[in-house]
Amino acid sequence: VNILRTKTAVKEAMKPLLQQGKTIGLVPTMGALHEGHLSLVEKSKSYSDITIASIFVNPTQFNNPADLEKYPRPIEKDLKLLEENGVDFVFLPEVSEIYPDEVKLKIDFGELDKVLEGEFREGHFNGVGVVVSKLFNIIRPDHAYFGQKDLQQLAIIRRLNHDLSFGVELVQVDTIREQDGLAMSSRNMRLSKEDRLLATILYRCLSFAKDELLSGKDWFETKDKVTRRFMDEPNARLEYFELVKACTVEKVSQITDDETYAICTAAYIREVRLIDNLIIND
Ligand code: PAF
Repeated sequence: VNILRTKTAVKEAMKPLLQQGKTIGLVPTMGALHEGHLSLVEKSKSYSDITIASIFVNPTQFNNPADLEKYPRPIEKDLKLLEENGVDFVFLPEVSEIYPDEVKLKIDFGELDKVLEGEFREGHFNGVGVVVSKLFNIIRPDHAYFGQKDLQQLAIIRRLNHDLSFGVELVQVDTIREQDGLAMSSRNMRLSKEDRLLATILYRCLSFAKDELLSGKDWFETKDKVTRRFMDEPNARLEYFELVKACTVEKVSQITDDETYAICTAAYIREVRLIDNLIIND
């Protein structure tokens, strides 16, 4: 696989492809790749002529320094996986290449980042917005692929893409799950065997709540039951469990037929923070 480490190298590599009229698909990642990322690669390979994956553990989107430090970085394994899965280029920059200076820009996403992740991870979406803008400007992709697991991130990037006229076609790809329902995540690697079993509590509660909602049960009663389930588990701590409009992540307490809704959750399994969501009525 062709590794590009600088903005100049990306520009040089993309120039002839653009001249040939090839479409460029970007799969942005922070590495520690799993099947979820590979499904983004697969989608890009079937839809774009050229696939470029980026691996960059973006420091500005971590509000917790310990989380940044502990973030897994199995770079050799990642490069091998990308090669095996037919990625054409990997953009693998150093932090100084992306951030030669401290970024002062603050992006106001309006109501989009005041809820869910935005409520608990201050500055997180500002960091995501800045790095995704940089990646879009450096790579100039036609298409970019993002997982549904980060539903709120998708809403943020949709707004960024629209309001700043990047003109990138954003492709949403379904969440890939382990057999027992746990959503694939790079953070799963940090779970002990025992905690890995406990981590299915997120998917179990989401599925339970989805069934309750679809059978007409009251949302607040359902949320109460879920909260109590978490309280019975000393090593799990629920951060939020919310019913939202899937497009705008606006919190609601009822569903209607004319709109798509999702239940979004975040919880700590001991010290590992996991997120997940389920669409209610696709
Ligand atoms: O979803 C992620 O892995 C990251 O937030 C992204 C989009 C690569 C930006 O750093």
